[in-house]
Amino acid sequence: MKTVTLNTLRAHKRSGETFSCLTAYDASFAHAANQAGIEVLLVGDSLGMVLQGHASTLPVTLADICYHTRAAAAGKGASLLMADLPFMSNATVERTLEDAAALMRAGAEMVKVEGEAWMADGVREMSRRGIPVCAHLGLTPQTVHQLGGYRVQGREAAHAERIIEDARTLVDAGASIILLECVPATLGRAVTEALDVPVIGIGAGPDTDGQILVMHDVLGISTGHTPRFVKNYMAEASSIQDAFARYHDEVKQRTFPTDAHSF
Ligand code: KIV
Ligand code: NA
Repeated sequence: MKTVTLNTLRAHKRSGETFSCLTAYDASFAHAANQAGIEVLLVGDSLGMVLQGHASTLPVTLADICYHTRAAAAGKGASLLMADLPFMSNATVERTLEDAAALMRAGAEMVKVEGEAWMADGVREMSRRGIPVCAHLGLTPQTVHQLGGYRVQGREAAHAERIIEDARTLVDAGASIILLECVPATLGRAVTEALDVPVIGIGAGPDTDGQILVMHDVLGISTGHTPRFVKNYMAEASSIQDAFARYHDEVKQRTFPTDAHSF
């Protein structure tokens, strides 16, 4: 694999070639995902659930994500490494900048932040300082208690319109990528068509520029409720490496996700 950069993802957007993304939290799994061809690895704060066993991502600290970012960076190869800003890193612009700097020092090449249009100042100041930003919209798990659960977002026309507007505002502020979680497929397509930057989806239908899943879901080892948008690739695979490769191939061929995985 050639080194994946923001320019690689932008070229994919222009040519219509989709790209695959997967969470990774350590060197061994980052290496396996890279070997399978997966273009983007995310040290997600989902680690609070799949590694630490919490019911949400809220207990995850900056130190936790830095630790796992250092580990994943050691195995990531040519894949692009993104890391999540944890809960409350967006409390002030100053804190956002300091936390993003810590993630970049730990080996991240891009940071992801949850937040709507009001996050524009933080996004602008990070990107001005050379930190590529992915803005996470739709279902934002750090606000689960305010959302009243892990529910599909943007089903009503007015809410869908607001998500599109927020995405535009954040891109104007400097966001290099938008990630959409748990929105109707029609909204996933609308945001992807409205923006010049790559859009990554999880539960956002088949038409986003890239797809992402949590590694534990791909391997079928998550506990509790299985969301509709996940697929267990171990069911037909002979190894973890094979499961990652099957996921990557299905994303590249646009055979995942199907309508059955979409809202
Ligand atoms: O933390 C995470 O794994 C994420 C993905 C689900 C997008 O934010
Ligand atoms: Na996350």
